[in-house]
Parts: sequence; C-alpha cells; structure tokens
Amino acid sequence: MASTIQQELQSTSEFLSLRSYHRPSWASTLNPIPSHAFNLGHFPTPIHKWNLPNLPKDTEVWLKRDDLSGMQLSGNKVRKLEFLLADAVAQGADCIITIGGIQSNHCRATAVAAKYLNLDCFLILRTSKLLMEKDPGLTGNLLVERLVGAHIDLVSKEEYSRIGSLTLTNLLKEKLIKEGRKPYVIPVGGSNSLGTWGYIEAIREIEHQLQKGTTNKNFDDIISACGSGGTVAGLSIATWLSDLKAKVTAFCVCDDPDYFYDYVQGLLDGLGAGVKSRDIVKIENAKGLGYAMSTDEELKFVKEIAETTGVILDPVYSGKAAYGMMKDMAKNPTKWEGRKILFIHTGGLLGLFDKNNEMAPLIGKWRRMEIDESIPRIDGTGKMF
Ligand SMILES: Cc1ncc(COP(=O)(O)O)c(C=O)c1O
Repeated sequence: MASTIQQELQSTSEFLSLRSYHRPSWASTLNPIPSHAFNLGHFPTPIHKWNLPNLPKDTEVWLKRDDLSGMQLSGNKVRKLEFLLADAVAQGADCIITIGGIQSNHCRATAVAAKYLNLDCFLILRTSKLLMEKDPGLTGNLLVERLVGAHIDLVSKEEYSRIGSLTLTNLLKEKLIKEGRKPYVIPVGGSNSLGTWGYIEAIREIEHQLQKGTTNKNFDDIISACGSGGTVAGLSIATWLSDLKAKVTAFCVCDDPDYFYDYVQGLLDGLGAGVKSRDIVKIENAKGLGYAMSTDEELKFVKEIAETTGVILDPVYSGKAAYGMMKDMAKNPTKWEGRKILFIHTGGLLGLFDKNNEMAPLIGKWRRMEIDESIPRIDGTGKMF
C-alpha cells in the first residue's frame, strides 16, 4: 500500500505530468475547485532576503523568486497555466488561443506550455498601427514564440480597444472551429477565476516554506505587480483565508486601481469568495508613462537594482512595482519601518530585450584589454578555436 502511494506521488510530481489537485484546507469555501493541474514549473521557488539600498529603519524585504519558476523564464504565468492547460486538455482541445501585447510574457509562456503538451498555439498580439502590416521581428518574447511555432495574428491597439480581447479571441475561435479545430481560449494574462488558483497555491507554498524555517518570522506585507489581475486576486484571497494574514499590496502597471478593484472582484465572485476586493488588497498606481513605457528613472532603477543586488527586474511589471514600492518608502518611511515584506518577482526578463536601445546609455564599463605585443603565449593552445 505504502509503495503504491509512493509510486503515485512520484508519478504525479513528474515534470509535465497531470496531477490530481487537492485544495488547501483553508480554501474550502471557494468554488469551483479544479480537479487537476499539470506540473509545468519548478516549485517551490526560492525565497531569500533582498538587500535593497536605502530601506527605512528595520525594514526587511524578501524576494519570492517566481522569475525562477521555469519553462523558459515564464515567471508567474506558469502557476496559472498549470490549471488552465489541465482544463484545456480535459475539454479535448487540440489548440490554444490567447491574446496580449506584442511583448506579452503570458503569450510566450502559453506558446511554450502548449507545445510541451503537444497543442498548437494561436496568439493575437497587439501592436502599433504603423507596425501591424510588418513582420513583428524576433525581439524578446517574439523570438521564443516564433521558435516554438506559435501562429501569430497582429491587431492594432485601436482595433484591440474598439473590439475588445474577448470578441477578438472569439472571432479566431469561430474561424478555427470552422476549420475543424478544437480551440481553448485563455483570456488576457490567464486571469480568470480558474487561473487564480495558481496564486492560491503559491500562498500554500509560502506557508510551507515558512513552516520549514526559510525565515523565522511571518511576513507583514506581500507585494506584487498587477497587469491583468489574476496574480493579485490569488495572492489576496489566499492570504486572507490562510494563516498568513499579511497585508497585500498590488502596484498596477496599466489601467488604474479602480479598474483592478472591479476586475479582481469579478475573479473573487467567480470563486464564490464572498469578500470585497477592497477589503483584502490595496492597489496602488505604478503605471508611470503607460503600459510597457518606461521613464529614464524607472530604467535607471532597474539598472541600479541589478548592479547592487544581482536581481534583474523586468521593466514592464516587477521593475515598475518595485520602483513604486521604493518611492513610497522614501516618501512615507514611517509607514514601512520595521516591516517584513515579501516581494513577488513575477519574471518577465525577456521583456527587457525590447528596451535595449533605451538601456544602452545607462550601461557602460567595457574596454579593450591592453596587451603588450611582447607577452609570450604559455598555455591555452587550441582552446575554442
Ligand atoms: C512578468 C509579469 N509580471 C507580472 C504580471 C502581472 O500579473 P497579472 O497579469 O496576473 O496581474 C505579468 C502579466 O501580466 C507579467 O508578465
């Protein structure tokens, strides 16, 4: 008997296998509960102290390294896709449709995960009107999407806001059904009530890490970027229901806090959570110039944090959220003094490649090595030639 259970445990934790899903005990009031999830990521992701410069007195910031969740740097998206793709396969889908910005991390993560599971992937990507008729190129996320053979349909920002992501994905869905395909649609950012389970599970993971002594004191705050709402919905409802009881703050990088309070409310209602989003999460604006647009200060901040701590933040999500957090700490230090904060690094490294030109003036330090002509060769013959 024991060996059967052991065998089952072994087979269910295998990479890319489907596992039965059992909710945390504190999530018993949520409904529906997913029955299965794919093992797509490398979990638990590490938690470590983040030695940020210029923190208020006795403030500690720790990092949850979801940027290391695996699947070609897929960050927070892996957790949602574990549930969403299990549903797609259960429904007999033979392909996945999803939608996002031209450098969407979510679209790239979905393209990779779909291919792992032998599903085709169709992406609708939003770009500027001027670029819509051109080859979208191979920068950052696009390179990975195109390497794994995702089908790409470009739409303009104007079309996207006029028609909406739901109608656009439905148009493609109908077209594919007529061609005899069985598509499964994943909404922007994978943020629906099912995807929310990804970050409900992340909170269970953090609880286990605390129990195992990763750090000796509970966190007072959990902080994350917010782009489509699913990550923050999961973090906040699970923190509220579990023993973690930290204060959850989201820094939104597009739209505005009111939009996200409503959107997160919809996700919570879809789970029958029976709570108000405004009671369980504080949403702050960190949009700056606009979605995926960076100020010089934000990019300088990303550079400074990389140089001082070795942690690379992406410019679109975690970079803006951490910048927003540090700005608030500088403005209201007493609010943060003595608090222990867990910042969720949600990934997005490939988005940085899209900022090469803007980053270039901030990055120096190279030189031609000075070598005297008279220096004789002693070793290294033939290596790498
Ligand atoms: C790297 C990264 N971080 C954070 C987010 C925000 O997460 P969510 O869409 O769940 O709000 C996204 C996606 O939108 C992302 O790609």
